[in-house]
Amino acid sequence: MKIQLNIFDVLESTNETAVAAANDGALEGTVIVAKRQEGGHGRMQRVWNSPEGGLWFTILLRPKIDPQFIAQVTLLAGVAVAKGLRKAYCTDKICIKWPNDLLWDGKKVCGILSEMQLKEDGCVDYAIVGIGVNVGFKQEEFPEDVRKTAVVLNDISGMNLTCEEVLDKILQEFVPLYESWQLSGSQEFLTQWQELNCTLGNVVNVKDNDKVIFRGIAKNIDSEGALLVKADNGEIRSYNFGEISIR
Ligand code: BTN
Repeated sequence: MKIQLNIFDVLESTNETAVAAANDGALEGTVIVAKRQEGGHGRMQRVWNSPEGGLWFTILLRPKIDPQFIAQVTLLAGVAVAKGLRKAYCTDKICIKWPNDLLWDGKKVCGILSEMQLKEDGCVDYAIVGIGVNVGFKQEEFPEDVRKTAVVLNDISGMNLTCEEVLDKILQEFVPLYESWQLSGSQEFLTQWQELNCTLGNVVNVKDNDKVIFRGIAKNIDSEGALLVKADNGEIRSYNFGEISIR
């Protein structure tokens, strides 16, 4: 995959620009980067605060896989970002919280939002992977409710990396993982996901729209990326949506 960087000063959302580019026939490997987003969004239609100093970008992919497995791309991206950030910040404190959050000491440093589009014949037309990394702005720039749960990497590490350096480290991990997924399937990154995650083995509350709907120990993820949770009474349920809080 050849990376083609497109850097903008300001966009509504790099995901929206990537969708428009994909519909115009842009190639796999197109990366849309914005120094600032005015309408950045996260999962569950949440606002994603995107001031200057953060790394906001979206990768356009055209994977040749069964749409059933498309959710794997979010897990793969989580692995690539975790590896890239660990290398950039020389730390193993960064881990993946299922399905798509990157945490440092339990605080969020990155979120990932993937979307996909099918063709009329049912094959994947494109997938976009939007990645937001809190690289180098002031903690006070988070809205008040986010300040308790999110941190800025340069702050917490005492380092002063640029967004370009961090992007480069992430893409260096992403490209080979993606190519290996296309060639040989998910085993390689799923194994790495197991090593990098901080969800499995913990008691989790599974939430749907902020409401707790199931509670148990996170046992594993399956090949489609769903989380398997085992309750006290032995019942095992699998979740491929929603979010969890870790106790
Ligand atoms: C989440 O944790 O809810 C996912 C956040 C994803 C944010 C990124 S920033 C780049 C891209 N553009 C967007 O509007 N969202 C994603």
